[in-house]
Amino acid sequence: MPIRLHYFGHSTFAIDTGAHKLIIDPFLSPNNPLAPVSAEAIVADYILLTHGHGDHCADAAAIAKRTGAMVISNFEVVSWMQQQGAENGHGMNLGGAYSFPFGRVKMTIAHHSSTMPDGSPGGNPAGFLIHFDDGVDLYIAGDTALTYDMKLIGEAGGVDLAILPIGDNFTMGPDDAITAAQFVQAKRVIPCHYNTFPPIKQDAGAFAAELRRAADIEGIVLNPGEEYAL
Ligand code: NI
Ligand code: MN
Repeated sequence: MPIRLHYFGHSTFAIDTGAHKLIIDPFLSPNNPLAPVSAEAIVADYILLTHGHGDHCADAAAIAKRTGAMVISNFEVVSWMQQQGAENGHGMNLGGAYSFPFGRVKMTIAHHSSTMPDGSPGGNPAGFLIHFDDGVDLYIAGDTALTYDMKLIGEAGGVDLAILPIGDNFTMGPDDAITAAQFVQAKRVIPCHYNTFPPIKQDAGAFAAELRRAADIEGIVLNPGEEYAL
């Protein structure tokens, strides 16, 4: 069975491996103006959080409490989520990898910040490199600037799919995302973290066209609510 990705706008993706359901950075209706559904509609076994900002973890505790899903993030974010009532957590930190029942997850470097919604420290921001048990390699950059460290992912063999922010202002913009796609040697890219708010308005179709022209890499633009089979 192919891995299915479901996009909810901003940086929120559901991943269904067939056997396991993951939700990445849950930011849903009404918090996320682009999301077609609210947190109550989410079924999840694992909740992966790249960092502590509200536009990535606003709905995480509610989903964790209702479903019992395991929160996977840096140690500080997991500890904070446990204080909010999410009982099941697995703390990690940059450069560390761990084998979960769906695959192996490595926390990668992200150049950004990470404060929890109440101002508590949220550790270091991160991305995730996921090696699914069926062999698919997925890179979720998280909120980050372009960093030369991304080349290490490419040198280690690259990825089947990279989910990269293109919004600019808070993260890298479209031009740097094309360089990031080349650094990590992505076969395909799904752009995220754009059009949610006025400062991050972008033309994702133009990004995909330039990604093809400049780097010969496929860009897949998903509208909120759309699915993609990997
Ligand atoms: Ni952020
Ligand atoms: Mn963000």
